[in-house]
Amino acid sequence: MENPLIMHGDFNKDILLKPLGRYVSLEQSSLLEIGSGNGRIARVLSPHVNRYVGIDISDELVQMARREFFGRTNVDFIVADGNSTLPIREESVDVMLYVMALHFLHDHQAAFSEARRVLRLAGVLALFEPSEKEVGEAWSGMLNPFSGSFNPTSYQRKMEDVRRMNSFLESQSLFDVLERNTEYRGNKVLMVLRKKS
Ligand SMILES: C[S@@+](CC[C@H](N)C(=O)[O-])C[C@H]1O[C@@H](n2cnc3c(N)ncnc32)[C@H](O)[C@@H]1O
Repeated sequence: MENPLIMHGDFNKDILLKPLGRYVSLEQSSLLEIGSGNGRIARVLSPHVNRYVGIDISDELVQMARREFFGRTNVDFIVADGNSTLPIREESVDVMLYVMALHFLHDHQAAFSEARRVLRLAGVLALFEPSEKEVGEAWSGMLNPFSGSFNPTSYQRKMEDVRRMNSFLESQSLFDVLERNTEYRGNKVLMVLRKKS
């Protein structure tokens, strides 16, 4: 995995399932993860949802995830750019999820209009990113041998873009914000939005 952040972040069952389960009935939900990587999040969530689809720009990571989930009929991985029109039918998804992936996209506005297109009415868009505290500590160079290839300044800039986009979404009344900057176990920032009509 070229970005070392994948090595970090303990996005376990509690952190992912509890907040999502507050807003949707997961076992009946169709879930779409953008930037699904090697399937780490699918491993945690797919046993608890009706259908899981992961999209990632990396062919190699998608192949890896497909190998792991071979034979699982409710799990699919697709190679696609999260910043283009997604190969997903409109209004077919109950939960759309980004875990440590939104900051990779250059056009957040386009990403969110795709979220509006593919989500069912009242569908949930959930954004998980590490908090600034975690980024600062983990990438100080002391704790992680991969920190040399990570640039915290550029990460902070990207996160500022994400925050600006969240304000934009609110001002446009496209989504209701259900949760913002909630910290789970002290170090995970979470935003959960619900699609409005
Ligand atoms: C830090 S990893 C997170 C992977 C996974 N969500 C997890 O938490 O284990 C970020 C992922 O985003 C993917 N990615 C980066 N740019 C993308 C894009 N434009 N469209 C889709 N996926 C992208 C990368 O290939 C990588 O797998």
